[in-house]
Amino acid sequence: MFVFSLAVLSLGSLVVSRSVASDIRRSFVPPGPGDSRSPCPLLNALANENIMPHTGQNIPIALLNQTMREVLNLGADLTDALVGGAQQFADDNGTINLHDLATHNVLEHDASLVHDDAAPGAVYAPTDTNKAKVAAVSGLSTDGVGLTARDLAHARVIAEETSLPLPDNLAFAANVEAALALTVIGDGTTVDLAAFGDLFGENKLPEGWVKPTEPITLDVVVGIASQVAAAKEEFESI
Ligand SMILES: *[C@@H]1O[C@H](CO)[C@@H](O)[C@H](O)[C@H]1NC(C)=O
Ligand SMILES: *[C@@H]1O[C@H](CO)[C@@H](O)[C@H](O)[C@H]1NC(C)=O
Repeated sequence: MFVFSLAVLSLGSLVVSRSVASDIRRSFVPPGPGDSRSPCPLLNALANENIMPHTGQNIPIALLNQTMREVLNLGADLTDALVGGAQQFADDNGTINLHDLATHNVLEHDASLVHDDAAPGAVYAPTDTNKAKVAAVSGLSTDGVGLTARDLAHARVIAEETSLPLPDNLAFAANVEAALALTVIGDGTTVDLAAFGDLFGENKLPEGWVKPTEPITLDVVVGIASQVAAAKEEFESI
């Protein structure tokens, strides 16, 4: 489960810098019919880029852990929180299929920015990207160049208005997802629309992406998620 605590707020340096060329090997191939994919654009991208097994099947938790740390440069605390969420789906041999993460209302939730809601009574939510939703979120960019925490909050409010209310933990998880986008493929403040389109629209790592120079910590992500939550309240009060 997501085990973030709002008590660990820290609004220190939120800037994510990337100055060093990445040495990761990527080769993007869209998923084939038998490939297992999740509702998480980032995990799908890691499989599509052949950084994790392209089938998306029998992925060792230990590999997920190592990939988040070494490829994405997520901090140890953030990695543990995210891997801990995935771990509940692990088999006895410690592996998951990406599609396990589509189990409705465990980690996956309605009111996704780019997926349709789960059908009533369905065990699994859809993992296909709704391209119209990707375009609609991009259209909320205030400056037409990138999406800020405030723009993503706007998108979340619109998504949540048209779905059943989210359980509190999943509403918070959704804010964390926006914060992950802002840090993993953004600079902590903004995600370029092209990068957003690559990751959320195509499930590929953005063109020219390199990993952050400093690990992305749980504190930073929770701090940005709290900015998203605060901006949502502003939009909801309009
Ligand atoms: C991830 O790997 C680190 C380093 O090997 C380890 O200390 C940690 O417990 C692992 N986390 C999970 C959730 O498996
Ligand atoms: C793990 O278990 C699943 C079924 O429970 C099996 O399909 C898979 O091949 C196993 N993976 C490994 C690495 O042993």
